[in-house]
Amino acid sequence: MSIFLTFEGGEGAGKSTQAASLARRLEESGRSVVKLREPGGTPFGDEIYALLQDPSSRRLRRFYKDWVGAPGEQPLEPLAELFLFEAARTQLVAQEIAPALKAGQIVVCDRFADSTTAYQGYGRGLPLDVVMNANGVATGGLAPSLTFLLDIPPEEGLNRSRGAEHRMEQQGLEFHQRVRQGYLEIAASNADRFMIIDACDPTETVAEAIWKKVKPLLPLFQPLP
Ligand code: TMP
Repeated sequence: MSIFLTFEGGEGAGKSTQAASLARRLEESGRSVVKLREPGGTPFGDEIYALLQDPSSRRLRRFYKDWVGAPGEQPLEPLAELFLFEAARTQLVAQEIAPALKAGQIVVCDRFADSTTAYQGYGRGLPLDVVMNANGVATGGLAPSLTFLLDIPPEEGLNRSRGAEHRMEQQGLEFHQRVRQGYLEIAASNADRFMIIDACDPTETVAEAIWKKVKPLLPLFQPLP
């Protein structure tokens, strides 16, 4: 028995904190957990992350806009961006997620394919069928067992994450509003695996709501000897 848990949400929603907190609780309960993040999670994915997001990356910011203080005029094509996220995901699934699930481990991933549907589909405006097909190819059809959507108004989330200075944060408020709306629509059409959580609640309240959902599943997993 294996389980694949993902965290999704806009900027400043607290996904990383909650993913780490859940992984820690699972480990404390004696289960074997593999904790991953997207984009990244493999050396190849980390390079793509650095290329796309890192404010100190000099590689693309000289030529393209949307980096903080970038002199470039040209936008990075949304489809080119899509393929980079999918390339990182392809490697992550093959190298980490599929083997861990095969070995019966619990996989906790900070972002997965729903991020691409929300950001590149709803946010950038790429056709949703193109994004979903690309997701399907990169994941080989693998979908999370359970997805926690940490929902937060973008005004509040961006305020919280101010200073992170990565590229998506340079997008206007309307972009982030489309991303949030997209997430809510994705959750509504995948209600069987989504749990929407109010990320404006205190961190501890959010962590408890997540644990309440996961704890009953623990008997399905043997503790480590
Ligand atoms: P994070 O490390 O704060 O989660 O930042 C990752 C950023 O990358 C965030 O702004 C969302 C963005 N992103 C996409 O646009 N598409 C994707 O498929 C993924 C995984 C992330």
